[in-house]
Amino acid sequence: MQLNATMNKTQPRNPRLHKPKRTVSVIGTGSYVPEKILTNAALEKLVDTTDEWIMTRTGIKERHIAAAGEHTSDMAAKAARAAMEQAGVTASEIDMIIVGTITPDTVFPNTACHVQKLIGAKRAVCFDLSAACSGFLYGMEIAQQFISSHMYNTVLVIGAEKLSTIVDWSDRNTCVLFGDGAGAAILRHRPGSHGIIASTMGADGDYGSILHMPGGGSRSPVTKENIDERLNTIKMSGKDVYKQAVTAMVSAANSVLEQSGLRATDLACVIPHQANMRIVEAIVSRLNVPIEKVMVNLDRFGNTSAAAVAIALDEANRTGRMKRGDYILLVVFGGGLTWASSVIQW
Ligand code: ACO
Repeated sequence: MQLNATMNKTQPRNPRLHKPKRTVSVIGTGSYVPEKILTNAALEKLVDTTDEWIMTRTGIKERHIAAAGEHTSDMAAKAARAAMEQAGVTASEIDMIIVGTITPDTVFPNTACHVQKLIGAKRAVCFDLSAACSGFLYGMEIAQQFISSHMYNTVLVIGAEKLSTIVDWSDRNTCVLFGDGAGAAILRHRPGSHGIIASTMGADGDYGSILHMPGGGSRSPVTKENIDERLNTIKMSGKDVYKQAVTAMVSAANSVLEQSGLRATDLACVIPHQANMRIVEAIVSRLNVPIEKVMVNLDRFGNTSAAAVAIALDEANRTGRMKRGDYILLVVFGGGLTWASSVIQW
């Protein structure tokens, strides 16, 4: 009875409903970091630290810091333009802009709207995605869903951060770790390529307090008292983050390898979240990936949160770390907690 009732209904005419899902590829990448460099030697003058401590614990030598008038959206737009140029995509072709960020220009309008205005992508749907360091990869997965279902054709995914505005510059435990920058990718169906083969995303709110910014939201709004207590800055329990990050990223990477039917030896390049070298080494040794296959640039940029894997992807792409048809693996972890991983055919 039920089946007959359904069959007798008028069939919807939307052609999207009748099309098979399609593959989704990254067709262009771009990145931008601000001009000003903050070295470990300069940090020695700010807090009680040494270049030797920072290098041995994190592998970070320097990071880039945005100028006062240089906003998250300015960096994002520069990375976006580079990705559009490489992809041969004009602003009018972009259907959607997703900006992964925890340092939006403004709470609203969202940063993606600011970017839309800067690049002139008038037709685009725009939203920000708050998943800390996992924002770019979460964004890629969302873009994939919209493109594979034929809802949209061309999506611009950006990871962009001005973390220097939420770093407590008097806290040596955290201020040595972070930097500013942006990375972008254009996603579209490319016939003949598998593109994104497998993805996974995860989260665990129970561990939210090991890496967070307690102030600035509606729980602890911006008041003089809250600012005096530095609630609007990053708080981190480093050892707990280390343990959770390694466990979650290894498990996520193994999951996408299994889903895709590939082994670690099939990968041309692994691009992990650029948080610190010890975490990177711990992950790749557990995945049995030789370190030469791993893209690392955290020594020059520090941890740029949502921008980190996007900047590393662009650098790997532009320096020929992978060629068309190669398999690459991306894996990230961030506050929330959040994590994600993808295997992509380049
Ligand atoms: N310079 C000098 N000494 C320092 C500094 C510094 N910048 N920071 C901390 N110390 C001191 C501590 O005060 C402590 O001193 P104490 O023993 O007198 O109390 C000592 O160094 C050891 O501190 P630990 O926290 O035990 O140092 P640890 O070896 O664990 O390294 C680190 C700290 C590098 C943060 C490590 O825990 C880590 O890698 N954690 C992962 C966190 C991370 O990468 N977060 C990035 C954001 S999260 C993300 O993006 C996924």
